[in-house]
Amino acid sequence: MEHSSYEAELLDILKQLTLEEKVSLVSGATFWSTTEIERVGLRSLMLSDGPAGVRGPTWSEKHPSASLPNPTALAATFNPELAKRAGQLIGSEARRKNVDIVLGPTVNLHRSPLAGRNFEAFSEDPVLTAETAVALVQGIQSQGVAATAKHFIGNDAETDRFTANSVIDEHTLRTVYALPFEEMVTEAGVWAVMSSYNSINGTTGTESPLLRDMLRGEWGFDGLIISDWDAVRSVEGSGKTETTLAMPGPKTAWNKGLLQAVKDNRVPEADLDKKVIHLLRTAARVGALRGFTPAVDPNTLEVPPQPTDAEVRSFLTDLAIQGSVLLRNQDEALPIQPESVKRIAVIGPAAERVRSGGGGSATVVPPHLITPLEGIRTQFPQAEIRYTLGADTHELLKPIGSAGRAASGTPGVDVQFFASDGTLLGSEERDGNDVVYGMGYPNGIDGDRVHRIRLSTTLGAEHHGTRRISVAGVGRITLSLGNQVLSEEHLALGSVDPIGGLSFPPQRVHDVELAASPQVVTVDFIPDPDTLVNLRLGYAGPQRTAAQLLAEAEELAAWAEVALVFVGSTEADESEGFDRTTLSLGSATNALVETVATANPQTVVVLNVGSPVALPWRERVAAILLSHFPGQEGGTAIARVLSGEAEPGGRLPNSWPESDNTKIPLTSPINGEVVYSEGSSVGYRNANTRFSYGFGHGLGYSSWSRESVRVQWQHNGALTISVSVGNTGKRIGQQTVMAFASSPEQNDSPPFYIGSAQVTAGPGEATTATITVPPARISRVFGYSRGLTDLKELSISAGFASSDRSAPITITRPA
Ligand code: BGC
Repeated sequence: MEHSSYEAELLDILKQLTLEEKVSLVSGATFWSTTEIERVGLRSLMLSDGPAGVRGPTWSEKHPSASLPNPTALAATFNPELAKRAGQLIGSEARRKNVDIVLGPTVNLHRSPLAGRNFEAFSEDPVLTAETAVALVQGIQSQGVAATAKHFIGNDAETDRFTANSVIDEHTLRTVYALPFEEMVTEAGVWAVMSSYNSINGTTGTESPLLRDMLRGEWGFDGLIISDWDAVRSVEGSGKTETTLAMPGPKTAWNKGLLQAVKDNRVPEADLDKKVIHLLRTAARVGALRGFTPAVDPNTLEVPPQPTDAEVRSFLTDLAIQGSVLLRNQDEALPIQPESVKRIAVIGPAAERVRSGGGGSATVVPPHLITPLEGIRTQFPQAEIRYTLGADTHELLKPIGSAGRAASGTPGVDVQFFASDGTLLGSEERDGNDVVYGMGYPNGIDGDRVHRIRLSTTLGAEHHGTRRISVAGVGRITLSLGNQVLSEEHLALGSVDPIGGLSFPPQRVHDVELAASPQVVTVDFIPDPDTLVNLRLGYAGPQRTAAQLLAEAEELAAWAEVALVFVGSTEADESEGFDRTTLSLGSATNALVETVATANPQTVVVLNVGSPVALPWRERVAAILLSHFPGQEGGTAIARVLSGEAEPGGRLPNSWPESDNTKIPLTSPINGEVVYSEGSSVGYRNANTRFSYGFGHGLGYSSWSRESVRVQWQHNGALTISVSVGNTGKRIGQQTVMAFASSPEQNDSPPFYIGSAQVTAGPGEATTATITVPPARISRVFGYSRGLTDLKELSISAGFASSDRSAPITITRPA
């Protein structure tokens, strides 16, 4: 349909809608969907999180989702082509799950390394964030599915996120925090944006004038502006602004009051109409509006709509390899040739309890999860591999999983749902991992009627002995073993917000003596009203003291030729709903690494984290590999990298401060305000911070030389930077060359990253990396968004990391 007639047809549909229908359309129907109005051919739109996979409306192993490495890992690839393919996979996952709108990517920045949700954002750098996210969005939308750039704007930390006021000056806002959003709109043509919980310069996200002036006005965004979940707090204020859709339905402020407000003329009907048009336009784009040609013809998709399982697994393995960063490799400790090693010690909690992704709304339930221990067993078939825990760093006990049996005899648990009068509303069997409800119940159960949830399982005679049983959730919980009530109490949320409680709920632990006969464990759970339900029944074998665990690790390390230590974060950090308070991995983890490194000089640490951590022992271990949160195939990817079958492809998309003592922006509001006083000196640009490893750092298995750098400023305003490099190592290698620019007119400001290119070369071979930077990017980075006229000179440097750059070359803009 030609554009003007398309818009005219949308207006025609608008005219057919009653006021009630219009309000219901923009107010959300269910937790994840919008209202259907069959009369005009509009079906309901399905929305779903999130950035590292598509969960779909149900949070359950029965509806698994491909779990990608976390977005920081994707940014670490410095490879937009891979990001595009990741987007295509997310798009096809969305189609498979009947999802029209994916609630991602998160393009907020790592302003502070302590921010709890950094793992689901890309980088501290606006340009790297934009490059990665633009490609990802193009990939997602190439499948005819809308992507959502979130959270607009200044939502760069979690503490008091519903109320905090981000105070950001105009220049910093435009050149740093708005840049990725701007490129989402102008370069990727994103179809949806999410307005944030926090305030920006005094106005709450869903009512911010920036939505009108910057997003719609300057950038011309004509898609859907979705409120973050429950971020619409007013009727009149937000009713008049550009937020289009209040979610989640049906209990939104608009559902309660917008109809009357329009009738009373407190909100002009024209404002409501604008919202409806944006919603209809988006529905038309994704093929949810009869009679309109969708933006992407489902019959001519760029890649087949449903990749095979093998294709997905191979791509996800590759992505995790490309996103892993080798931080240190002393005396070529890595790779470890499988045929040259006979005894490998695998130590540490993250070898088994690996985190495939961070916590909160970004969580997806994968079809399987390859642990590093499994990956290493497959990759090193000739070696003897022994495992020990070393340190128990998880505050939450592991879910009972298949240790228990449901009444049918299948490994797992039975879950039953009861109404307040005791009526059984329904039941299901689950695999014994966390059960999450509240945003949807199984088998058509009406969530509003669910009052009590009962979870039960049988521990067989083989579990005889001293054991630990725990329960975690927010609400009134009774835990029983057989007829014995172990505890009956109310577990409260504490200081985290409800989503934080989802990832890291309060827990009660019991040490029990299990008899030599099967025993039934039962949890009766009355969730707190208006909270999301996450219930974990935890279970563990006999406990060992921290000293015993450490002694076992030391002994195993001394036995082995190579000690691989897997450490990282837990549910208690790097989850949505709260920030971290320290960069430290904790004393137990640090003691473990120190002990193993002392016992074995060939100690390799593998970090399972999504954000920077302090590495006080970094000079005392042979190698450090950052796997990030590597997704469902992480174990295979890590093992292939360790063995040298694959070269780690990642470079740091963020800078790693040495310790808490170095100056980093904090996340806690002061008097309700988070003042971005550092301006554009974020991450590597902050000269006051001491880093262990800086932006762009990362090693491969080859070595490289950098010869010459040539820069050309084209007449069209684009920059071309050519860097000749050579592979001086013994194996074929991949290298990332990055360019930085500063403006001599802003001479006290450190250089900005402006782009990168990847090269591959054989041993002894030379090649040229060519980085092309579009004119609009230069203009945005230096704050001349409306044209280049003011920028006459640029100083360009290039190299392998922010701290490893050529001397700057100053060039003048061609006349
Ligand atoms: C998060 C959003 C997410 C939404 C729905 C909110 O708490 O901030 O990123 O998309 O929940 O799960």
